[in-house]
Amino acid sequence: MTVCSDLNTLNGYLESSRAAGLTIGFVPTMGALHEGHLALVQKAAEENQTVVVSIFVNPSQFNNPNDLATYPRTLESDIELLSRIESVVVFTPEIQHVYPESDDFQPIELNGLDRVMEGTHRPGHFAGVVHVVNNLFQLIQPDRAYFGKKDYQQLAIIRYMVEKRNLPIEVVSCDTIRSDEGLALSSRNMRLTEEERKDALHIYQTLLRVKELAFHYTPEEVKARAIEFFNEANLDLEYLEIANAKSLQPLTAEWAQLSVCCIAAWCGDVRLIDNLELTN
Ligand code: PAF
Repeated sequence: MTVCSDLNTLNGYLESSRAAGLTIGFVPTMGALHEGHLALVQKAAEENQTVVVSIFVNPSQFNNPNDLATYPRTLESDIELLSRIESVVVFTPEIQHVYPESDDFQPIELNGLDRVMEGTHRPGHFAGVVHVVNNLFQLIQPDRAYFGKKDYQQLAIIRYMVEKRNLPIEVVSCDTIRSDEGLALSSRNMRLTEEERKDALHIYQTLLRVKELAFHYTPEEVKARAIEFFNEANLDLEYLEIANAKSLQPLTAEWAQLSVCCIAAWCGDVRLIDNLELTN
């Protein structure tokens, strides 16, 4: 397995892959890898002959300095996990590679996708995500890029950016991977105590409750009942929204054919997000 942090080595590798007619799959990550990331890398390896996995904790997407400081960094074990999958190049860029002085990135209007849920509660977060993903796309120029549905809003925004900028990249989504009890896998779970891990299960239980009620009552009524149920647990709800799965705008009276329920909550001092798609 190749691990590189310099652009020359990366470019040499990418050029020889392209010259041999191989497709390049790309999985951007911030490290602290878990089975959810590995599922993305596995899928990328099934669909491409070369897979680049970037590991870069992107400062510009953290609106909370403490969150950035405490974000888990586990490079050695990340590399060990990735070494089990064939054809993977691990790219661990320095900040000046991702954000060079010559950076001419122009922010894009995100059609309201960034003005709800995470966008409201984490100001500047999506501007940072779009910037870093755009710059990594420029460096790697993949044929396909892989994102998990766990970050539902991020996925919608990246799809929109690719479409709007007309980038020749196929965005591939992968389902959320959960623990046996239903907790969505996340790098942040590493920071949960055993007790908090149990409390956190209530997030998925609430999503399942929403799924049971969906389409029998209005979205507004389901939301109210779900919040009541959620608040029985030892968690602090930041938001619970029922939205149109494409536009991400909140639903009140009518369901969309594909709707989604998204939750963000604090479990102790760890912020978790999760979601579930809802179809009739
Ligand atoms: O989902 C993440 O881990 C990050 O937001 C991403 C896409 C790697 C950009 O830093």
